Amino acid sequence: MKTRAAIIQRVPGAYEVVELDLDAPRTGEIMIKMVASGLCLSDEHLTSGDLPAGMLPMCGGHEGAGIVVEVGPHTSGWEVGDHAVLSCLPGCGRCRYCATGHQNLCVLTDNFSMGSRFEDSSSFRLSYQGRPVGQWCGIGTFSEYSTVSTTSAVKIPKDVPLEKACLIGCGVNTGWGATVNSAQVKPGQTVIVMGCGGVGNFAVQGAAHAGALYIIAVDPVSTKRDQAMRVGATHGVATIEEATELAKQLTDGHGADSAAITLGTLKPQHLQQALESVGKNGIVVCTSLGRATDVDFKLSIFDLTLKQKRIQGSMFGAVSPSWDILKMVRMYTGGRLNLDEVISKTYTLDQVNEGYSDLREGKNVRGVIVYS
Ligand SMILES: NC(=O)c1ccc[n+]([C@@H]2O[C@H](COP(=O)([O-])OP(=O)(O)OC[C@H]3O[C@@H](n4cnc5c(N)ncnc54)[C@H](O)[C@@H]3O)[C@@H](O)[C@H]2O)c1
Ligand SMILES: [Zn+2]
Ligand SMILES: [Zn+2]
Repeated sequence: MKTRAAIIQRVPGAYEVVELDLDAPRTGEIMIKMVASGLCLSDEHLTSGDLPAGMLPMCGGHEGAGIVVEVGPHTSGWEVGDHAVLSCLPGCGRCRYCATGHQNLCVLTDNFSMGSRFEDSSSFRLSYQGRPVGQWCGIGTFSEYSTVSTTSAVKIPKDVPLEKACLIGCGVNTGWGATVNSAQVKPGQTVIVMGCGGVGNFAVQGAAHAGALYIIAVDPVSTKRDQAMRVGATHGVATIEEATELAKQLTDGHGADSAAITLGTLKPQHLQQALESVGKNGIVVCTSLGRATDVDFKLSIFDLTLKQKRIQGSMFGAVSPSWDILKMVRMYTGGRLNLDEVISKTYTLDQVNEGYSDLREGKNVRGVIVYS
């Protein structure tokens, strides 16, 4: 069948909305009619080349939710009409990572950027003028319809608004998990969140939920800091230097217990700044993505050993999507997760580039494409 979708054909480049051919689901797959897709900055990193696409053309989008319109043969557990949040990372449920509570590191995720099926680099479901088109993260949610593996989908109750729940497929769990799982924030602690966009707003909410006493939101854009204050930050500052000083003042000179880096494009100096902002036994959580070639990171060995500091990478908030997506849906319907205020603007599929230029100019916190 045909589907309209936003693809990138060259890097650096921009999204082009074109009509693609979409294959029917095979065994272990479902076809989704997309209802909404969030505009995460990682899809912008794809167009800039910061995040290398495994192939081109590539259909972007990895933060989607929709309704099942077709179920592959011999595919149990799914019915036409089911509602699903698509997970930005797949989980097989059987590998050593899935089996030990680290589903975000499932062996299938090694191939998330390939665009093909995770387990077969020659198998595609989308094509454009006879050429295969990749699906970013295996789901390519910037498409009216998408055929995905059931390892990328989590069924949710039908009364949850999908145009809100789509964020749970990436930004919510990435941010919330950065502070709750990766920084292991404890009651009474002081937490710095460096970058208050889509992901940072959920890192703030996670820290507040975990009982942090002080949450210092850092962002050069004042509207983003204000938004972070509305969802739980206790202080808002423009620079990490101000946050470092403030954290010291609030902790009798010790420094923050943890700093979550959730800013747009990671540079080595951001890691150095975050390490300086935390005190003894402090944890720096790195969620942001940057250029793969930026490797010249300077580290104080004294800081690391004598002050017992930790640097912790965090992929999709260290969550296990099969459970954590449904859990966060329930947190939303239970009034414990604020999605509504973080979604600041909606767009049509044809406005995808406008959504990203708004994001670059600080005009939205999280934009969402809503399909008609
Ligand atoms: N690790 C993962 O699993 C994962 C998942 C999703 C997104 N990401 C990455 O997380 C990062 C954030 O994504 P997003 O969608 O929230 O982006 P975003 O553009 O919505 O937010 C980034 C924010 O950082 C701010 N910022 C820029 N420079 C700053 C600085 N020096 N100090 C403080 N704030 C600064 C910007 O003003 C902006 O508000 C991106 O790098 C994205 O690719 C990682
Ligand atoms: Zn994302
Ligand atoms: Zn697995």
